[in-house]
Amino acid sequence: MSDLKTAAIIAAAGLGKRFGGSLKKQFQNLIGKPVLSYSIESFESSPLIEEIILVVPEDFISFCNKEIVAKFGFKKVTKVIPGGKERRDSVERGFNSLLDEIDIVLIHDGVRPFLTIGMIEEVIKEASKAGGAIIALPVKDTIKKSCSGNYIERTVSRESLWLAQTPQAFRYDVLKRAYEGTRENDFAVTDESSLVERLGVQVKLVEGSEFNIKITTEEDLLLGELILKEEIYKDVSNRHRF
Ligand code: C5P
Repeated sequence: MSDLKTAAIIAAAGLGKRFGGSLKKQFQNLIGKPVLSYSIESFESSPLIEEIILVVPEDFISFCNKEIVAKFGFKKVTKVIPGGKERRDSVERGFNSLLDEIDIVLIHDGVRPFLTIGMIEEVIKEASKAGGAIIALPVKDTIKKSCSGNYIERTVSRESLWLAQTPQAFRYDVLKRAYEGTRENDFAVTDESSLVERLGVQVKLVEGSEFNIKITTEEDLLLGELILKEEIYKDVSNRHRF
């Protein structure tokens, strides 16, 4: 596996509309460091990752270069590029900036600070076999489908339902083919796996962690502080179901 050239694209070009305050969520301070720096740190420490592409809002490129890449001494970040209108456009821009000698591409949300080195290893291993693999969690709660006015239309069986997280990993050639088949303005695409699934590739689900949260609201930031203080996210191997 170590002879596979692997690149990570971190999508961090969101405008943070759901977050209170003016600073975008990927740049919010999480115990002394910007949220985005934590995920870069994980990719930087994984021996399997060769290069990291950061996709950020255009007016934050110099901030990221100075206040994140240079300040924390991240050596694997080869490019900091501007994102697009939707998340998928940002990731595609990152993909287009890669050299085609890359074997595996990992895609990660810049607002998910608590991915682990183990998750990186596992998705790369599975993607190299299946063509694609994603970190995800089996659904524990009962799922309701709503209709207008927040009434329940029906209950959806949670059996076989998973919540998709990132990182998501794909063989370079598979993701390239997936992009070739995409349609413009396809708003249903909220992750790259869905593009790859359309090719008929059987994407592998790799069980992630409850701690691999996406910082979307102020509450998530508080939760993030707790997770970080306890350092609990680093050891998810102790997880067991009661
Ligand atoms: O908005 P959402 O929660 O799906 O964002 C997931 C990730 O995608 C975030 O890290 C965000 O910064 C990134 N994103 C992006 N380009 C956009 C919109 C979101 O890179 N145009």
